[in-house]
Amino acid sequence: MLTSLSLVTVEGAPALGEVLCQVDDIADVSDGGAKSFRFGIGPHEVRIFLLRRQDKVYAYLNACPHVLSALDWMPDRFLDPTRTLIQCASHGAQFRIDDGFCVDGPCTGKSLTAIPIDVVDGEVRVGG
Ligand code: FES
Repeated sequence: MLTSLSLVTVEGAPALGEVLCQVDDIADVSDGGAKSFRFGIGPHEVRIFLLRRQDKVYAYLNACPHVLSALDWMPDRFLDPTRTLIQCASHGAQFRIDDGFCVDGPCTGKSLTAIPIDVVDGEVRVGG
């Protein structure tokens, strides 16, 4: 089941409607890129990442549903070698880019936590 976490509830994160980045700041998944953010400090730190496929932007919590490890294997690197799936660096779980659903690995059937965003005029903004 897809769950979501609004950044509005995260201390230290930008407010509703604030700009996270420009769409063009996110490398297309065909180039293997992504863009990561951290908000808050200490136990309240929240990490998220954005992926872009052509004009569509996806945002997820950077926490694998298996044991909540960060997913990236290098800064801003979240994809498998085919660049068609998100792949967890810890134990290799694979997730669809479109909806964060885990299709293979120890958390098969679970999903990444989606982060609501809005894309307006080429900007990625905090959604509600
Ligand atoms: S922490 Fe992601 S597959 Fe284990």
